[in-house]
Amino acid sequence: MFDKSVYIARRKTLVSKMSSGIIFMPGNSEAAFNYASNEYKFRQDSTFLYYFGLDKPDVAAVIDIENGEEIIFGDDVDIDDIIWMGPQPLLSDQAAEVGVSKSAPYAGLAEYLQDAQKKGRKIHFIPQYRNYNKIYINEVLGIPFAQMKEAASLELILAVVSQRLIKEPCEIAEIEKACDLGYAMHYTAMKMMKPGMVEQELVGVMEGVCLSGGYAPSFTTILSQHGETLHNHHHEGILTDGKLCVIDAGAEIASHYASDFTRTLPCGGKFTQKQKDIYTIVATANNFACDMAHPGITYKDVHLGASKIIVQGLKNLGLVHGDVDEMVAAGVQGLFMPHGLGHNMGLDVHDMENLGENYVGYAPGQERANQLGLGSLRMARELEPGQVITDEPGIYFIPALIEKWKNEGTNAQYVDFARLESYYDFGGIRLEDDILITENGARRLGSKRLPITVEDVEEAMKNN
Ligand code: GLY
Ligand code: MN
Repeated sequence: MFDKSVYIARRKTLVSKMSSGIIFMPGNSEAAFNYASNEYKFRQDSTFLYYFGLDKPDVAAVIDIENGEEIIFGDDVDIDDIIWMGPQPLLSDQAAEVGVSKSAPYAGLAEYLQDAQKKGRKIHFIPQYRNYNKIYINEVLGIPFAQMKEAASLELILAVVSQRLIKEPCEIAEIEKACDLGYAMHYTAMKMMKPGMVEQELVGVMEGVCLSGGYAPSFTTILSQHGETLHNHHHEGILTDGKLCVIDAGAEIASHYASDFTRTLPCGGKFTQKQKDIYTIVATANNFACDMAHPGITYKDVHLGASKIIVQGLKNLGLVHGDVDEMVAAGVQGLFMPHGLGHNMGLDVHDMENLGENYVGYAPGQERANQLGLGSLRMARELEPGQVITDEPGIYFIPALIEKWKNEGTNAQYVDFARLESYYDFGGIRLEDDILITENGARRLGSKRLPITVEDVEEAMKNN
């Protein structure tokens, strides 16, 4: 938890961005895993954490925009709770730690909201992703489930996004720590990887490193020799000399800030020439994107800049033919990188995705493209100092997609489909760093960069 002045200042800024009514911020509750008292690990809602800091279930907060009153609703423990959980601090003391002077029993929240509703006051809440919060809003405010998404307040969404998008120095310090833990996860895998291991063994070690030093992996670890499947969560493969393994994993630390890195490693410690050729293009695109990023440019243009590097590289290898600018405009890169260059990162690894991808990654009026790859770009906005974004280009050979384009004649004037057949068992390569937009450019986060050149990766793996 940060000092209470951080939360007080954030709420003050939020209120200054809102016109009138009540802000209602539900926190999260425990969620049953297979029966009520065996729960998933508790994770507080990130927006609640951002403004109210309390990392515990069954609390909710309101802010009256007009008179500035703030109340945290929740219940103190009773003797039954103490038997199972031990003594807990009073809610009023916890509220005071985040600068809120008023707290009240949870049961009073419904009456508070209904009273405001009766007075015709607007109740602002962000889109809800947990069903119990949707049920609560349905029961208390009478909003039908089918209208719940539309009933979320666009004014509040835009206000929250504008604040959370620009990270404060105290947040950047936390993200740096998450990056250092993410580094340890990946570096451990890089040092341990060898043919004969089952992919899951490495997943377990990486997640163990993360759990030992932080809260949890920031998302389900992706570790696979079938890197052409972008989010491959099957880890039963046996690592085989000559194959590549994509490892996309990150750490969430105790304060819940995240990191997200990807490296693609040769299972046997040495890249083949064919692998080096593709790998070097992706590494060049990764470096190029970080060099290109600076305040004033859009991340969409950085995505297109990295796309040019990829198309030029594939042209040099004879896999595509034509004018590079024309090919990028036609979307040829989408066959090889059918995803965006990156996403915002902070308290969520895909920061604020619950608020709506377009509200987070696109400025009002900025259109989302309808092209394979570019259409999946989660962060397209003009860059500003304080934004934290991933830089994660890739090249994948997805046989079903290549066959589809071949059969449909998509970009057939540019793509050498016959030559691509020898890449059907190649897999994929993705290389991801986390970057901070600074006053003049961008810098990578974390005290050390994971090895990324062919030479440095092979050096790190040489004794495996
Ligand atoms: N690292 C997983 C993702 O960005 O979707
Ligand atoms: Mn990512």
